[in-house]
Amino acid sequence: MLQWKDEYSIGVEIIDEQHKHLFEIGNRIYDLLENYLYVDKYDKIVEIIHELSDYTKYHFKSEEDYMIQIRYPKYLSQKVEHDDFIGKIEEIDLKDLDKDQDKHIRDILTFVFNWVLEHILKKDKLIKA
Ligand SMILES: [Fe+2]
Repeated sequence: MLQWKDEYSIGVEIIDEQHKHLFEIGNRIYDLLENYLYVDKYDKIVEIIHELSDYTKYHFKSEEDYMIQIRYPKYLSQKVEHDDFIGKIEEIDLKDLDKDQDKHIRDILTFVFNWVLEHILKKDKLIKA
């Protein structure tokens, strides 16, 4: 489970709020994995991944606009990473999901949690003035 900490804040309110929302989406994958009431989780995981993809694009656009506005020197390398991550979300292969839903959802969860934390802590923190 992802828990927001004050130290994750980069001090730009709009971006901090968006990062918190990314945590929420990540935690929804966690809740889905832990939920034993659903026999079939396929539709739910597809829905969450679509939402993650849409929201991430929106978030990256905000971040890129902000970096341009402050003339952030590492803007281009951030942009490359952003595009790369969007590619990775879109490449998530769900065709084998039904073989072992929980294993696949756990793999997706690990990928998303690692990325969210890495993105915020290692990259976005550098934007902080
Ligand atoms: Fe970010």
